[in-house]
Amino acid sequence: MFPVTRMRRMRTDERIRAMFRQTSVGIDDLIYPLYIKEDAEDGKPEEISTMPGQYRYSVDDAIEFAGLLEDSGLTSVLLFGIPEHKDAVGSSAYDENGIIQQTIKGLKEQTNLVVMGDVCMCEYTDHGHCGIIEDQYVQNDETLKYLSKIAVSYADAGVDVIAPSDMMDGRVMAIRDALDDNDYVNTPIFSYAAKYASTYYAPFRDAADSAPSFGDRKSYQMDPANFDEALREVKSDIDEGADAIIVKPALAYLDVLREVKQQFKMPTIAYQVSGEYSMITAGIEKGYITEDLLDETLLSIKRAGADMIISYFVPQLLGIE
Ligand code: PBG
Ligand code: ZN
Repeated sequence: MFPVTRMRRMRTDERIRAMFRQTSVGIDDLIYPLYIKEDAEDGKPEEISTMPGQYRYSVDDAIEFAGLLEDSGLTSVLLFGIPEHKDAVGSSAYDENGIIQQTIKGLKEQTNLVVMGDVCMCEYTDHGHCGIIEDQYVQNDETLKYLSKIAVSYADAGVDVIAPSDMMDGRVMAIRDALDDNDYVNTPIFSYAAKYASTYYAPFRDAADSAPSFGDRKSYQMDPANFDEALREVKSDIDEGADAIIVKPALAYLDVLREVKQQFKMPTIAYQVSGEYSMITAGIEKGYITEDLLDETLLSIKRAGADMIISYFVPQLLGIE
């Protein structure tokens, strides 16, 4: 009790503050999302208008840029594809010569990065939904077949990790079965288990040209008002064989992140999504806030319980642009 106890005593000296700092974020805590676009020109990455400082790369440019980040200490990347051809079943997603398959092969040959493939259909379907549509409704069980096909084709290309982001029920089990049937028993699944129907994805949909052409994603992604449901989602994904859990978005869902980590003790990843990146970037650009916000935000996510963070800020943190 005061005056014997003075909390400020331990804050007086930076060296002592440093000794007891509980949380830190290092480059090895981060995963960088890379957008690969089929018709992007080599040497001319396309800047994403809603995400200043982020680009759509050709396959070769993506591999080169990833290599540069690896040289500065990055350990893993998460791949998103923007194909030229889109159709009702997203067939470009499981094309053995698809952009993601090519990128996976290149990255495995030229880098030592952990290569994670985001598995979903919305970037590949002409209607922009994350599954197969019938009667204006995304069909759950039919979609599972396609997700499994995509996962196996990524594994055939040599991917290290499958990360399904579609929010269909039973997809972790379906993908696990398909991988095992094809002898990929050691390919882990990092599941976007608690993924909310969030407006924070708006810049991504522009970047990936994946906005739904009708309706929204509320019949598969979670209602931002719900907490208990997130825990049930996580529990069911663990039961189906998920090896790590992704919570998304990050900053507005730290309560969910914390509870998921506390309850399940799983390897847990938070996705600091496109809207979070763009808001902070705009604030800094405008001069309303300073770049220090970046560290503080990442620290908060880590402190809440994230083992790893997927973040678009990786190049900036490494001083690479
Ligand atoms: C695809 C997917 C999305 C994101 C990751 N995977 C978009 C969505 O669900 O609409 C969002 C990533 C971001 O906003 O940075 N299902
Ligand atoms: Zn999707």
